[in-house]
Amino acid sequence: MKRQLLAIGGNSVQNQLSDTDGMTAAQGGNHRSRGRALHYPNHGAPHAVGIAPATYESAASAVRGIKPVVPIVGMRPHAAARAAEWFLENFPGDVAYAYKANDAPLIIGALYAQGIRHFDVASLSEVERASVMKDAKLHFMHPIKSREAIRIAYSKFGVRTFAIDCEDELHKIEAETDHAPDLLLVVRMAVPNLDSAIPLDRKFGVEPRGAIGLLKSARRIAAQVGVSFHVGSQMLRPENYTLAIAASSEVASAAGVKLDVLDVGGGFPAYHPNSKPESLSLYIEAIKSARLKYGLQNSRLMSEPGRALVAEAESVIVKMLGRKGHNLYINDGTYGSFFEGAKIYGGLSYPVRMIRGGQFYHGALEEFVMWGPSCDSIDHMPGPFFLPSDVKEGDYIEVGHLGAYGRVSRSNFNGCGQYGEIVLEDEPIRSMYDGVVKHKSATAAG
Ligand SMILES: Cc1ncc(COP(=O)(O)O)c(C=O)c1O
Repeated sequence: MKRQLLAIGGNSVQNQLSDTDGMTAAQGGNHRSRGRALHYPNHGAPHAVGIAPATYESAASAVRGIKPVVPIVGMRPHAAARAAEWFLENFPGDVAYAYKANDAPLIIGALYAQGIRHFDVASLSEVERASVMKDAKLHFMHPIKSREAIRIAYSKFGVRTFAIDCEDELHKIEAETDHAPDLLLVVRMAVPNLDSAIPLDRKFGVEPRGAIGLLKSARRIAAQVGVSFHVGSQMLRPENYTLAIAASSEVASAAGVKLDVLDVGGGFPAYHPNSKPESLSLYIEAIKSARLKYGLQNSRLMSEPGRALVAEAESVIVKMLGRKGHNLYINDGTYGSFFEGAKIYGGLSYPVRMIRGGQFYHGALEEFVMWGPSCDSIDHMPGPFFLPSDVKEGDYIEVGHLGAYGRVSRSNFNGCGQYGEIVLEDEPIRSMYDGVVKHKSATAAG
């Protein structure tokens, strides 16, 4: 076994990652490039200098080349670019990428290169990192911020948009920006999160009745005001946007305030075998028609998609450590990339394809559940995962659509936090963006 450099970035690993004797990570299989120092073509995205991850045609060719013993993150910047292209063409307003969903320079760089200039940031660290992108417009959409974060974001990084969901936050912003004359204050309202895998209405958001008073207060101190909401992440009902826009309009009328901005937040879904969304066009249509119906067509429209822009942009190649019946034990889990696959959280299942002998392997599919590498029982992904019935220890599995909230949720719990990183040239296992760029994979399961 050889010490190798597979990748760079937040999860860079220079370690015993591979069983490939005597090869560098980039030498085996149908690799396209050796890992080497260069400037990413990411047009000013943060942390632009580093060692480029090796590029492979597919997860199967990567397994042939690397024979990895730790999970390998396969990035597909082209999938992020395709999603951005679709949103920029189809969403009739500003598309502010929710930075928290995936902060990898290569992925953010792809979004930026495609034309994304607005960013929903939710911590001072995100503000700092996103601010290095030329002409980036940052919106600080976390409703409860520290005083330091408000002050520094405003004075050092030029942030003017801030979310609020209570009067105290409004007073904090007023004080920390020294009564700034150029604020855009956005009232985050609580709205129904029905049929969302990850409801976001418990922690933040003021009820519509309270939003009326808060909007009036915001109007008194801010140059511009708006309303925002989050319909829940991985949300399957386009009508939720209609209801939320209707409520925004009612609140604005009751407050006697003209909304400068209507921010419909995130919630746009990705494909998961146990959470299959309608076409994304239906979500956009619901927003467009509600905006007209409820008289908000003169308010600037904004959205904050995270998942829909980046979910398809990363797969993780995992190795089978063991099997007991229909329970599969793999080398990544809920303390790693599968945070949202946890039974106790989103419980999302993922599209998968099996790799044996360095080739994609097809066979009669059965339903499996998965368990991660830690000794903890909540390290459990109920799936279901559809895999060939004879899947066994030593096989590899490409798990798709882990680009959103995967890498950013990883921990080192139980010593399991090591990953390699590569770039994959092929298409995601499934895509919501057919018609913009056709996906080629015919091996998808689930
Ligand atoms: C304020 C805010 N905006 C946008 C998002 C992104 O949501 P999604 O990934 O569902 O598009 C989130 C996710 O937590 C959020 O908290």
